[in-house]
This record gives sequence, C-alpha cells and structure tokens, in this order.
Amino acid sequence: MALFSTRRLATSPIAQRCAEDSVTKLRLKYAPYYHTFDRQEGTRVWKDGRQYLMLSSNDYLGLGNHPRVVAAGEEALRKWGSGTTGARLANGSRAYHRELEETLADFLGKEACHVHAAGYLSCMSAVATFVERGDLVLVDKNVHSSLWSGIKISGAHAERFLHNDPESLREVLALEDPARAKLLLFEGVYSMEGHVARLPELLEVASEHSLFTVMDDAHGLGVLGREGRGTASSFGCADEVDIISGSFSKALSSTGGFVAGSRTLIDYLRTHSKQTIFSAAIAPAPAACALEALRVLREEPEHLERLWKNTRRYQAILRNLGLDTWESQTPAVPIVLGTKEKAYSFWKQLLQQGVFTVMSVAPGVPPGKDLVRTAVSARHTDEDLDRIGEALTVAARKA
Ligand SMILES: Cc1ncc(COP(=O)(O)O)c(C=O)c1O
Repeated sequence: MALFSTRRLATSPIAQRCAEDSVTKLRLKYAPYYHTFDRQEGTRVWKDGRQYLMLSSNDYLGLGNHPRVVAAGEEALRKWGSGTTGARLANGSRAYHRELEETLADFLGKEACHVHAAGYLSCMSAVATFVERGDLVLVDKNVHSSLWSGIKISGAHAERFLHNDPESLREVLALEDPARAKLLLFEGVYSMEGHVARLPELLEVASEHSLFTVMDDAHGLGVLGREGRGTASSFGCADEVDIISGSFSKALSSTGGFVAGSRTLIDYLRTHSKQTIFSAAIAPAPAACALEALRVLREEPEHLERLWKNTRRYQAILRNLGLDTWESQTPAVPIVLGTKEKAYSFWKQLLQQGVFTVMSVAPGVPPGKDLVRTAVSARHTDEDLDRIGEALTVAARKA
C-alpha cells in the first residue's frame, strides 16, 4: 500500500504543488510562525528553556488563568464530559449553550444569540446565512478572512470600500442598483490596525440605503464600552447593528464564537446556516469558561480599567520612540515597518530581547504596511511595560 501511495504522490500535480510551494519553503527557512511554548504563566511563556514576555496575545483582559474561569471549565468538564459529539440541531444542544446564549445576548443588547465551536465559523455564518447569489455585499477592504470566506460561499457579489471610510462606501453605493438586496460588512475593532469602526457614520449610510448591517466585533467585545459590552454599545447603537458576530478567543480567553441579533434573525440562522447545522456544538469546558469570563467582566471592572491604563502607557512608549502605530486606538497595536525585511528584523530583535510578538506581512496586510503585531494585556505589570520599552528601544535602533 505504501508503495502505491508513494508512486501516486510523486505523480500527483497537487502533491507536487505542495512540495514545491515557495511560501512554505520561506516560512520553514525563517521560522517566524508556529512557535510552540512548553509552559505559560500569565504574560510569561517558555520556549526551549527560555522565558519570553508575551506581547501579542489576544488575552486582552488576562482572564485565561483567572481562578473563577478555570474552576468553571473544570466543573463543566466533570458535569458534561469532554464534548457534545453532535450538532445543535441534532443531539448536541445542552442547557449550558442556552445559558451562555441568553447571557451574551443580554450583555450585547440583543434579543437572541447562537454560539459555535469557533469564532471563524460564527463570523463566516454571520455573512453566508443572510446573503445569496444576486445580492451585494459592501465590505470594508480590511476585514478578517472569516468574513471573506462567508462572502465567497454565499455566492453573493462583493464590492469593497476603502478601509473605515463611509464616504468611499457612499461612492460605491452611488453606482449600484437601489433595488438590489445589500449587506454592509465591517468590523467593530480591526485587530491588525487597532482601528475602531466609524460606526455612527456607517450606520447613517446604511439607513439611507436600507443596508442590512453585519459587524464582526471579535476584538471589541470585552474591550470597548461599559463593562466591555463592545463597539456598538460604546456608541450607544447596539439596536441599529442587525447582526453582531465575534469570538470567545480574545478578551474572553476561551474558544468558540457567536452570532447575535433579533430573535427572528437568529431563528433564520438556525434554519439556514450550514456552519450551524453541520458542525458539532461548542464543547462544555470552553463554553463554561466564556460564560464565567462574561460574569467576571461584569463583576470585576478592574481588569478593563487596567487594560486601558496599560494601553495608554504602551502607546505613549511607542510614540516616544517615533514608531508608526497606524493610529491604533485600542490595545491591539501594530508597529508598521513598511517592508517584509524590516518587519522580520524588528520582530527578530524583539525575540532576542525576550519579547514575543507576531510578524504580519503582505498579502496578510496591505502592501507597504508590513508590521509587527502587538497587543497589550491587563496582566502586564508596570515592570513588564518597562522591559517592553527597553526591548523596543533596542529593536528600533538595530532593526
Ligand atoms: C476579526 C476576527 N474575526 C474572527 C476571528 C476568528 O475567531 P477564532 O480565532 O475564535 O476562530 C478572528 C480571529 O482571528 C478575528 O480576528
């Protein structure tokens, strides 16, 4: 059997394409990705015996090791077992799903919510469910891959508008058939740029043109608004965004995702969304951790306060060093270097100083915006920020 498979692979054009792929060869040569940590404690990670200060995690509030969150996960595992082994529609629904959905819907100011095993699934279904062939999606050109996947599998046509630019959206709309069904797609917080959506202006255009609105708030939940209720809540317009989707893998320090909206829309999603119908329900432990993190958010405001205190200090450090932060307004702060080579060198310098970040280069970011992606957490101490400042000073000088 092994002989047949070796011969077949040697002649398969697909297998050859994989073996010869230049991007994979480059990745393996420079090894900037897929680092595996042997140990983690708060903002510290260990790799090959060396300790690093984490500066690129989405654990904005640092709740991943919170005793209440960990205890909730353990209890759920004991009570419900490891998985659901079924889709919600079939045998996978449990009482904890409903509890999480009701709590989250209430937190976001929405009537209903549906949770999935990954934020990617949720965000993809938040688009794919509501449009079909013949419809038009007006999309901010910098949105996350999950949303592009949603557009693609829906079969709808997409027109891009300039990043976070309501005027550009208006210009695109001026050329379109007013009678065509249209969906406006954008993010609450753009994690690569750290930008907050110009929500009131986008909603004004949406209202002028009867656009159905979908916002991915993966990086706004837990970060913006009172108690971290998200971007729409921070602008006081949760009612006006039709669908809010997001992830539990950022400020809620778990895994999984959600789609929230009116009861009618969520019932429709439960009937039509392939990502919902044909994928197993989120497992007990991650759902319980996300739910407990939501409760902690409401009851312990100090995490959010500390996050913003750290964000202000961290952004000031970067500004004083003259680094380009793409005008980030949030704890997700890019350091734009402009070329692949400079981004790699800066990232490597930080790594050598014991600070772990993630490099992001074109086509993952627009040309000329090659960057090192950093994110500050509520768990960073003043001493951590001092150390980060020193490492950045060295990287800025040497890279
Ligand atoms: C904006 C945005 N949407 C969706 C996702 C997908 O979420 P998850 O990683 O939980 O699948 C991410 C995560 O990278 C994201 O940044």
